Amino acid sequence: MIEAQDVSLQYPDGTVALKPFSLFIGGGELIYVTGPSGSGKTSLLQLLLGMVAPSSGLLSVLNQPMSGARGADIRKLRRKVGPVFQEFRLTAGRSACENVMAGIRFLRPASGSLRQEALEALERVGLSHKAASPIEHLSWGERQRVAIARAIARKSELILADEPTGTLDKENALIILSLLISLRDEKTTVLITTHATHLLEPARASGVIRMDSGRLDMSRGGDGR
Ligand SMILES: Nc1ncnc2c1ncn2[C@@H]1O[C@H](COP(=O)(O)OP(=O)(O)OP(=O)(O)O)[C@@H](O)[C@H]1O
Ligand SMILES: [Mg+2]
Repeated sequence: MIEAQDVSLQYPDGTVALKPFSLFIGGGELIYVTGPSGSGKTSLLQLLLGMVAPSSGLLSVLNQPMSGARGADIRKLRRKVGPVFQEFRLTAGRSACENVMAGIRFLRPASGSLRQEALEALERVGLSHKAASPIEHLSWGERQRVAIARAIARKSELILADEPTGTLDKENALIILSLLISLRDEKTTVLITTHATHLLEPARASGVIRMDSGRLDMSRGGDGR
């Protein structure tokens, strides 16, 4: 699923966001990524999504080698991933339902049930009643849940959720975390980054990646499903 050997990431301005690390994450794993602001959590997810290329080492995601990957390879990979961006990346002027539909429109052959699938995902995050509302009328927490619904609707092999509970109150954060965790199955791997370590239940995860100033430290354990 994800294999990294001595991978590092340096941005063009010289910032070393990720120091050389190696890790292996298999299918069906639930991994938490924790660490203070600026420690490299988003950079790690961007690397896995092919939004930035590794500066060194060997990285493969869903069997796609990321070093030297062509644009077409990256587009193909991204179709298999369900990202939840820290800054949501929703389209203003479109309804919650249309935003979710946009995330799945080109993934599968049209079955005529696109709207239905989007509505089901919105229902899972408790937002059916806002389906027709324009994004800019939604609260930040509601927008966060739309972004999560869009990732859920994709039914991806790999869910990369960047601070998915960042704008939610404790009650909603726990509901959303449970929902993301429930997506984990034999085939689907889920990575969740967060500052909010007090909300996590490490015993439910198969591993925790602790980040500090670009250094990754992965511990394994738990794995209670
Ligand atoms: N495009 C970029 N160019 C240069 N430096 C960057 C770029 N993006 C991020 N960085 C730097 O890389 C480091 C890691 O940033 P990153 O966004 O991955 O942290 P984070 O752990 O996700 O933080 P937060 O918890 O605040 O979201 C920071 O020092 C940041 O300033
Ligand atoms: Mg971040």
